[in-house]
Amino acid sequence: MAKVYGVAIRKGGQGKSTTVAMVGRLCALYGARVLVVDLAQPGTTTASLRDLWAPVEHDLLSNLLLAFRAFPAGIAPTPEQARAAFTAAALPVRLPTQPSWSGGSIAVLPWDDALGDTAAFLHSERLLAGLIEGLADEIDLALIDFPAEGGPLLANALAATQRVIMPLMPETPALEGVDALLRQMAAARAQGQDITLGGILLTRCEPKNKRMYDVVQTIRQVEEVEGVPVSGKLFPFAIRNNEFFEQAFRYGEPIWERTSNPAHWAGYVLLAEWLLRDAGLGNLSHQRRGPALLTSDTRILDITALLMNDPELPLGDFERAHLLVGEH
Ligand SMILES: Nc1ncnc2c1ncn2[C@@H]1O[C@H](COP(=O)(O)OP(=O)(O)OP(=O)(O)O)[C@@H](O)[C@H]1O
Ligand SMILES: [Mg+2]
Repeated sequence: MAKVYGVAIRKGGQGKSTTVAMVGRLCALYGARVLVVDLAQPGTTTASLRDLWAPVEHDLLSNLLLAFRAFPAGIAPTPEQARAAFTAAALPVRLPTQPSWSGGSIAVLPWDDALGDTAAFLHSERLLAGLIEGLADEIDLALIDFPAEGGPLLANALAATQRVIMPLMPETPALEGVDALLRQMAAARAQGQDITLGGILLTRCEPKNKRMYDVVQTIRQVEEVEGVPVSGKLFPFAIRNNEFFEQAFRYGEPIWERTSNPAHWAGYVLLAEWLLRDAGLGNLSHQRRGPALLTSDTRILDITALLMNDPELPLGDFERAHLLVGEH
């Protein structure tokens, strides 16, 4: 059964779409079969992967969801119903496999402009969960770019998700977005759903910026929200702020075609490897390969070393230092 990850925070612009597109590409490079579900306006994740698309005819995800609008609350399509609906709509879009993916693949349920309106007609919050289950034979893991606004699409995303990854820029107002989502997850758990926080990922970090240290300290002091030990959930590696992410998006390319320095995307490689291990695909995570390869001297931004003169460690040292950190 494919594990479903939601990349989510109730605050815009924190790097959700960048995280989904990067982790999707990287997991495929490691040989995993990935489903990307783009529910976040304005479809940035879908656009970020366009360089990989062949011209294919397909129906809209919104039409596919509308086909199930008569389903009342709590009812999910059966795997057979899901497969029939996918076949009729020529979805998901299966991106042409790249030689460097070594058996991996990316399939996309793409954003479309009608998705937001569609939500108003949906009664069941279990549609998406049922649809993803219908693809169980062909995917190893799913990544959902969460909608920022509440409503049936968010309810469907939550009901389909087992683990949440929260990208967070190191700025104090963003912490409210963490809190709001943790409370929604707690409500889902109270209804019996198995949804947990996988980790909080600091994005767009400037290693020398003192504010970043303050935000990390603030998170460390939050002992728990709704029973979740937030401070223990910070990933020890962080994503650097750099212009190449924006360029990669603008030119429709992976970041490793904009810069040859893997330090710029190394945090995402470590996140992809964490996710593969968490999804029970640890055997894949051992093979650092392809154009995104890190070496033992690639510099990693270590948030546990923020007070040091230089919080960036070579990967080899970083891995030794965090070998015993159980969670991550
Ligand atoms: N590490 C980074 N360094 C520099 N810029 C970044 C980085 N990560 C993302 N960005 C840029 O920041 C902006 C917001 O990122 P992104 O679109 O991934 O966030 P989001 O959470 O999906 O936003 P939204 O809430 O609008 O959907 C984009 O312009 C993106 O290119
Ligand atoms: Mg986005």
